[in-house]
Amino acid sequence: MAKVLDEQSRKAVADTIRYYRDLGIYDLYRCEVPEGMTFGTTIEREELAVITDLPTPLVAAPEPAVDPAQLAAILADKPASLRVIREDLGDCTRCKLSQQRTNIVFGVGDPHARIMFVGEGPGADEDAQGEPFVGRAGQLLNNMINAMGIRREDVYIGNVVKCRPPQNRTPERDECDVCGPFLMRQISVVRPEIIVALGATAAKFLLGAVDSMANLRGHIYDFHPILPHTAPERDPEFSTKLVVTYHPAYLLRDPRQKKETWLDLQMVMKYLGMSLPKRNPEA
Ligand code: URA
Repeated sequence: MAKVLDEQSRKAVADTIRYYRDLGIYDLYRCEVPEGMTFGTTIEREELAVITDLPTPLVAAPEPAVDPAQLAAILADKPASLRVIREDLGDCTRCKLSQQRTNIVFGVGDPHARIMFVGEGPGADEDAQGEPFVGRAGQLLNNMINAMGIRREDVYIGNVVKCRPPQNRTPERDECDVCGPFLMRQISVVRPEIIVALGATAAKFLLGAVDSMANLRGHIYDFHPILPHTAPERDPEFSTKLVVTYHPAYLLRDPRQKKETWLDLQMVMKYLGMSLPKRNPEA
């Protein structure tokens, strides 16, 4: 038997559903609380419709069609499309990481880059400067990029989360889930030919896989960004490639893995048809 929610609970449910809608999640399912269970409160479908303005009955929203004209415009002006994503992000307070940040670290580089590097989240230097990979790990990333015969300005660099986690802890699942869609949108605007996931957090978030770095490395994956329904960059046709390598911060702690990292980067270069330098660089 359904109960009627009090005003405060109705508002909380409505806020939660709007929050998921903002993230592009439309399909919500009610879970009936079994007879005799005391936690939670069930509400009638009609009531849910009233408090959220959802159609009744609650059904999965049809996939909005991709507007070919809008998509063509996005592809034609990638810098402008990245600015739109940045504006959508706004002065973000969607998760608790916003409480301690100095700057949102959006992303940097060539919007037309063939290669996109994705890290975990900003550290102290990045938080202070508002740019990804500008500290010690960033210096090493620059060296890795230069070893490939290209410059930092030639690639695009982003992170799974755009605000610094306190004490540089690993971003939590809810933080990645809230911030990640903006990264997915950046990927679908830049449309890199290949993504290099730096470290386990980026690899696991992008691939949706839980595995060791040893197992995740050494492959070229097909990658299809998962986008919110509302993202204008949604293109059902777009997919790219992805490789996993060690995070530069990890390499600073264990430089012996630089050789392995160089093998990963060579795999990327070979895939893109880039000529390989004659000797292994000291990345
Ligand atoms: N580590 C990351 O994962 N990202 C940065 O931007 C800097 C350090």
